[in-house]
Amino acid sequence: MTEVDILGLSGSLRAGSMNTALLRAAQKHSPAGVSVTINENLGDVPLYNGDLDTENPPAAVRELREAITRADGLLIATPEYNYSVPGVLKNALDWASRPAASSSLTHKPIAIMGAAPGNFGTVRAQLALRQSFVWTRSRVLTRPEVMVFNCAERFDQAGNLTDEKTIELIRELLTALREQVRG
Ligand SMILES: Cc1cc2nc3c(=O)[nH]c(=O)nc-3n(C[C@H](O)[C@H](O)[C@H](O)COP(=O)(O)O)c2cc1C
Repeated sequence: MTEVDILGLSGSLRAGSMNTALLRAAQKHSPAGVSVTINENLGDVPLYNGDLDTENPPAAVRELREAITRADGLLIATPEYNYSVPGVLKNALDWASRPAASSSLTHKPIAIMGAAPGNFGTVRAQLALRQSFVWTRSRVLTRPEVMVFNCAERFDQAGNLTDEKTIELIRELLTALREQVRG
């Protein structure tokens, strides 16, 4: 069977991001038939401006939309900012959601996960993120839920995910995403 290509999006731009580290772990531990590419360019996407949302949008927007369209599915790792989705991620998804009738997100299979140092593991951010994908008609997985709480203790000093249970959960999530893609 052909390889399923997954595009990873992190809601955090910082170099030491634990959410980006989760995506790297997904890349490293992906199940058979799945390859994960991590998008490194969300920081280049300008703030959404309807005046720029034309047939010739900013280059970073065009590249983001094309990368999402090319991918068979998305794997999103989101931090929680003030109980919700970080602006960086929401802004990128707002651009990606246009034009509404035929956007790169339309019917796109999507898996969500997130890491936070506290006890709630991005529960509220993930719920908020799911709402955005109602209007886009994306096919968001509901299981397994990957909410990595107390995340600092699950990585080593170099940012490698070492917690076996979390690695297994991510593998389950990617396996479910692979099946969603293959229909
Ligand atoms: C603006 C801001 C708001 C935050 N709000 C929350 C929050 O509501 N809930 C939470 O668990 N952590 C919150 N945090 C802490 C983040 O979970 C923490 O910084 C986390 O490491 C960010 O993910 P990253 O490691 O991928 O950058 C907040 C951090 C920032 C910078």
